[in-house]
Amino acid sequence: MKKTDYITTESFSKEELLNIANLSLKIKACIENGYYPPLLKHKTLGMIFQQSSTRTRVSFETAMTQLGGHAQYLAPGQIQLGGHETIEDTSTVLSRLDDILMARVERHQSVVDLARCASVPVINGMSDYNHPTQELGDLCTMLEHLPTGKQLEDCKVVFVGDATQVCFSVGLMTTKMGMEFIHFGPKGFQLNERHQAILDSICAQSGGNYAVTDDEEAVVGADFLYTDVWYGLYEAELSEAERMQIFYPKYQVNEQLLAKAGDQCRFMHCLPATRGEEVTDQVMDGPQSICFEQAGNRLTSIRGLLVYLMRDFAQKNPYDTDKQAKAKLELEDLLS
Ligand code: CP
Repeated sequence: MKKTDYITTESFSKEELLNIANLSLKIKACIENGYYPPLLKHKTLGMIFQQSSTRTRVSFETAMTQLGGHAQYLAPGQIQLGGHETIEDTSTVLSRLDDILMARVERHQSVVDLARCASVPVINGMSDYNHPTQELGDLCTMLEHLPTGKQLEDCKVVFVGDATQVCFSVGLMTTKMGMEFIHFGPKGFQLNERHQAILDSICAQSGGNYAVTDDEEAVVGADFLYTDVWYGLYEAELSEAERMQIFYPKYQVNEQLLAKAGDQCRFMHCLPATRGEEVTDQVMDGPQSICFEQAGNRLTSIRGLLVYLMRDFAQKNPYDTDKQAKAKLELEDLLS
């Protein structure tokens, strides 16, 4: 039985990603109508976190519960990846104890190695390279908020500020969908040549396009304006004073910048936000903001992703087979 991992959207086709998004939205509709499909009954997810998380952790845990399964939280410091026990051994052991794994890791190679060695599907819950489950949630949110008369391919997405792993991920997903993607950020904090080479190759296949600029005019006509915290992730960690000096006020999403984008524009943020830095209260809580719906769609898309990756694996222990009926009888005999 071949397993599928979800480490980066680069290895998924546009059609596959849209299938996951559509499945996610269908399951969302079921649950909103009071039907919780038991698609992951008796399944257990192992969740490895090397870093803290609110949305990702809670979404995975809630998704497993709602679909009839269970999630185990392996908190930062509780499990070593590549420490005393090798990643190979950890993967082999967890593959025997869990049906599916997810990991939020400090170094991308850790989740790549985990997936290579595991015999069950592995999901990347964010690394220093990308945040693919965020991408799927964002795709669901954009599909739900398409401007009237527009398809995904007609939309322009502008990411404002620092080239975080979320910025790169938004670039990956939008270009894969054939959309226009712009990173508007200061020199030294823009998507680098390696990122751009990957986006180049995606665009060559998808018909999407992208640009990197420090020209504010880039936001005009954006359908979605997206931002993330000012980490300085690819440089040394920045102090608050340094962040403000580099990004403020030009790269703050405030009412003036949103007005420049236009009334049609929707504001997105992966959260958590540092209010007053990359975004103002007025924008975040304003009528054009969809960032809290976007956070809700982390759960939406993670449900769909889990079901998609388990669709073959869920049959690993099929019910109603002769073998299972025999095992059941033997157990009942033993207990009678
Ligand atoms: N957006 C996101 O990944 O949030 P958490 O860090 O809270 O999981």
